Amino acid sequence: MPAHTNDPYWNHNVHYHPAVLAAVPDDCGTALDVGCGDGLLARKLASRAGSVTGVDRSPDMILLARRDVPPNVTFLEADYLDDASLPEGGYDFVSAVAVVHHAAFEAAVGRLVRLTAPGGRLMIVGLAYNRTSLDWVISGCGVPASRLHALLRGGKRGPVGMPIEDSTMHWGQVRKTARQLLPGCRFRRRLLWRYTLIWDKPQEGDS
Ligand SMILES: C[S@@+](CC[C@H](N)C(=O)[O-])C[C@H]1O[C@@H](n2cnc3c(N)ncnc32)[C@H](O)[C@@H]1O
Repeated sequence: MPAHTNDPYWNHNVHYHPAVLAAVPDDCGTALDVGCGDGLLARKLASRAGSVTGVDRSPDMILLARRDVPPNVTFLEADYLDDASLPEGGYDFVSAVAVVHHAAFEAAVGRLVRLTAPGGRLMIVGLAYNRTSLDWVISGCGVPASRLHALLRGGKRGPVGMPIEDSTMHWGQVRKTARQLLPGCRFRRRLLWRYTLIWDKPQEGDS
């Protein structure tokens, strides 16, 4: 178990779980973790939301997730892009960690927007690839930081068999497209090869 936390393992996605938890609105009723993998983040969200749904299309991941299910958490094996049992506008908080790049960005973000309740919040933690020299410099700075964290937290690991993909978009493309699709979003490039993106969905009737 990594030092300093109760997490069973550490990696570059788990590293940003505290940022996701910090973004959960106060008095959050319903939360959805999209591409929940083995359910580690969904279990953490259980203490921040009235009820939590974790959805993943991988049967192996949902099997792992269902080994430990808090009373207010449900794990669903489904494709979040088109599964009709996920109510559009049904979630006060939607998180998607390392998952939007598994589909076309516009389609993925569009669906996440529709799942988020009016007045709710969407948080994406995502990946991109390096294109510019500055991209490479920033990514290079992540190497010692990642090694240090891994040293302190028992190595870098994750669930065996978790589906992974490479991003087909570079950092600048993601930033630009996100700002077009999600006006007013807060986009931050992070050190450990991830960006975080927080967007508050307007209430109905707000312009
Ligand atoms: C790289 S893993 C990240 C898992 C987890 N969010 C984490 O941070 O550890 C991406 C996950 O998204 C899931 N996934 C990808 N596309 C999906 C889709 N369309 N519907 C549901 N799950 C999907 C995969 O099965 C995989 O478990």
